[in-house]
Amino acid sequence: MSTPESKMAGISRRMISAKAEQFTESVIREMTRLAMKHNAVNLSQGFPDFAAPAEVKEAARQAISDDINQYAITWGAKPLRDAIVEKFERTQSVRYDPEREITICCGSTEAMMSAMMAVINPGDEVVVFEPFYENYGPDAILSGAAPRFVRMQPPSAQNPDWSFDRDELAAAFGANTKAIILNTPNNPTGKVFTRAELEFIRDLCVRWNVYCITDEIYEHILYDGTEHISMAGLDGMRDRTIVINGMSKTYSVTGWRVGWALAPPEPTQAIRKVHDFLTVGAAAPLQQAGASALHSPQSYYDQLAVTYAKKRERLLKILETAGFTVYKPRGAYYIMTDISRFDFPANPRFVSESKDVAFAKYLVQDIGVACVPGSSFYNDPQDGASQVRFTFCKKEETLAAAEVRFAKLRA
Ligand SMILES: Cc1ncc(COP(=O)(O)O)c(C=O)c1O
Repeated sequence: MSTPESKMAGISRRMISAKAEQFTESVIREMTRLAMKHNAVNLSQGFPDFAAPAEVKEAARQAISDDINQYAITWGAKPLRDAIVEKFERTQSVRYDPEREITICCGSTEAMMSAMMAVINPGDEVVVFEPFYENYGPDAILSGAAPRFVRMQPPSAQNPDWSFDRDELAAAFGANTKAIILNTPNNPTGKVFTRAELEFIRDLCVRWNVYCITDEIYEHILYDGTEHISMAGLDGMRDRTIVINGMSKTYSVTGWRVGWALAPPEPTQAIRKVHDFLTVGAAAPLQQAGASALHSPQSYYDQLAVTYAKKRERLLKILETAGFTVYKPRGAYYIMTDISRFDFPANPRFVSESKDVAFAKYLVQDIGVACVPGSSFYNDPQDGASQVRFTFCKKEETLAAAEVRFAKLRA
């Protein structure tokens, strides 16, 4: 006979959707909570801890004063749509129609989810490079996609950049493939896909009649002369690409939640419907401020890259000195590291965890620095068990504080 408890347990199991049960809360966001709990230096989540540009903040204040406080048009305020289209044409030489080919969303997170829900049918396959930004896993589950992972190998003596096997990528495409998710510049690896790599991917997309959904949120954070090339600009791709981007990283306003999807009219119509019933719209005054941010002069973007290049060098040195094997990023603001050299777990408190999780917990609790365990970027957690990721989108004081704490790790 069932007890009230077992009945309750049965009910609560049935009350949760099978989809929601398939993924956990974000490990990246959890690391930030742990950093706060342990008063650790937070080098886990990719949000700047320094001020956003004064002009951008002033534009937001002005928009509220001007009473731009009600719902914007659901697919986005006209001045922001115009500014995005104009900037994309300036930087990538591809023209979109602001009336029919853009949707402003609550961050690129929502733009990616809305795009996937708009084009995926249950069972459609989606090719994803691995390691991947952790949101793409739940995005696939919630949209009903079956992900096909293609491994990127870390830099080695033979190949100085993260690389993928072309045959393996080609083999991941087939009659059921609906889309490939591309992220360049890439989180977590820092890889910036080259034109030759993009052309190879383009040829597969054309051959199999597949969308490329490209997350370009780090488009301006580039080092060593690398160039950001949008897939939308490659011959044959304008009408099969969905470009995802947002204000978060370029203007250091991750909390504003303004992002967008650029796509041909047909998928845009579907994206707009999904977006409308998910969120209605992104914050109206912040969209208004976004329009002025997107008109920033080129010098703003150049300076952003210079500032991050210095921070990259600083954190690379700190991590190398602390004993990590580092993979130098060519773009974005993360450093993937290999922790094989650390003899760990030596501590019985963490013995049941995989090495990356045990290491990250030890680091946040005992050393006072938060990072992200490598397993959160892989489908099979074991594949990331010898890696952890750090971010350097932080003030010099924050990086210096991490350096001091790492002295304890060496000891
Ligand atoms: C690759 C990538 N895409 C999207 C996002 C989230 O962007 P948004 O703040 O626009 O939702 C992040 C945040 O870290 C990211 O790394």
